[in-house]
Amino acid sequence: MKSIEVKTLNKIYNIYIENHITDQLVTYLKDNIKSINNIILVSNEKIYTIYGERIKKIISSNFNLKKIILKDGEKYKNLDTLKYIYTELLKINARRNDVILSFGGGVVGDTAGLAAATFNRGMGLVQYPTTIIAQVDSSVGGKTAVNFENIKNVIGCFYQPDLIITDPKLLITLEEKEIINGLSEIVKYGLVFDYQIINDLLKIVNKYKNSDDRLLKTVKNEEFGNIIYKCVKIKSEIIEKDEFDTGERHVLNFGHTIGHAFEKIIGFDNINHGQAVAVGILCAVDMSISYGYLDIDFKNKLHSLYNTLKLPEFVSGFKPDEIYNAIKFDKKFVSGINKFILLKDVNKPIICTDLNEKIIKSSIIKYIR
Ligand SMILES: NC(=O)c1ccc[n+]([C@@H]2O[C@H](COP(=O)([O-])OP(=O)(O)OC[C@H]3O[C@@H](n4cnc5c(N)ncnc54)[C@H](O)[C@@H]3O)[C@@H](O)[C@H]2O)c1
Repeated sequence: MKSIEVKTLNKIYNIYIENHITDQLVTYLKDNIKSINNIILVSNEKIYTIYGERIKKIISSNFNLKKIILKDGEKYKNLDTLKYIYTELLKINARRNDVILSFGGGVVGDTAGLAAATFNRGMGLVQYPTTIIAQVDSSVGGKTAVNFENIKNVIGCFYQPDLIITDPKLLITLEEKEIINGLSEIVKYGLVFDYQIINDLLKIVNKYKNSDDRLLKTVKNEEFGNIIYKCVKIKSEIIEKDEFDTGERHVLNFGHTIGHAFEKIIGFDNINHGQAVAVGILCAVDMSISYGYLDIDFKNKLHSLYNTLKLPEFVSGFKPDEIYNAIKFDKKFVSGINKFILLKDVNKPIICTDLNEKIIKSSIIKYIR
């Protein structure tokens, strides 16, 4: 079992990462959170259909369990869903010492996290992530949010959980497109912080390289949890240094500036977060080449990695200018001055501001079909 202690301004909490930790959920809840009144499971229809009965049995053997089940999908990460959660919390007369157990991917985690942060000015919150993106990224760091008017994560706040429980074995029911979605975030960690993560990933994938379902087999491999751990360790160390995203944490946004713009323009129904980030990473690498930081060999190697991991290399259906204009909504831009994370070299991220419009657009054009 691997555990990480995260020290933030208001909370010190643990992240536990272990295959099959679900079977010991109750022990970890009891050991980490004092005097739990009710456990309020917030999940979505799809995840609850797969795991609901099992989780219900485990939790209700020891706690009073309530549940709030949301509709599935990024398009439901909105104020209506938040209102629905508040209404249900009122119906069950939720109190501050009740704990929201957010069981799902990044959409459930971000929405349930915002509900926990705001209802009664703050309730207990346990993140119990079920997608790769949620395990390596969204459950860690306390960012909660919903989308509004097609702008990603524009209404939200920072609210650290009391505990994160990560069971890599929950990933084996993911559809392939969701595995691909998550692998793009893992590639981000590998490029920005520790290339060994990509080597570790390739070591597993290559065991199944002739198999069409190599990605599912990779996720099922016992060693996959170690990759999750390495990513989480990196993220938690950054959170401790820059909890409120004022500087160092920006490097986690590598590939996300253009990625978020893709999501905005193409629509949340037509592209998922990881696909958008995967192509956003290619744009950021291309911009790094334009500024003379990386060479073309690096890009070719990256394309080969994308091929192995089945990551998308293009997006389609819009004009580069639309993406460029959408970039301006990025929360990290100050007074209209753009800000991108580029790579000076592998594992050497650099925060760049006021980049040349032509260079940005020419990188975007290359990845549109
Ligand atoms: N808070 C943060 O710091 C942060 C960081 C990265 C991403 N995000 C947010 O996370 C969201 C994306 O998260 P996501 O990729 O997890 O999407 P998601 O939550 O929509 O999950 C993807 C799909 O997988 C299904 N699913 C989840 N777990 C499953 C399982 N174990 N088996 C089978 N199906 C399962 C979901 O029902 C959904 O259909 C975006 O809204 C993004 O903005 C937030």
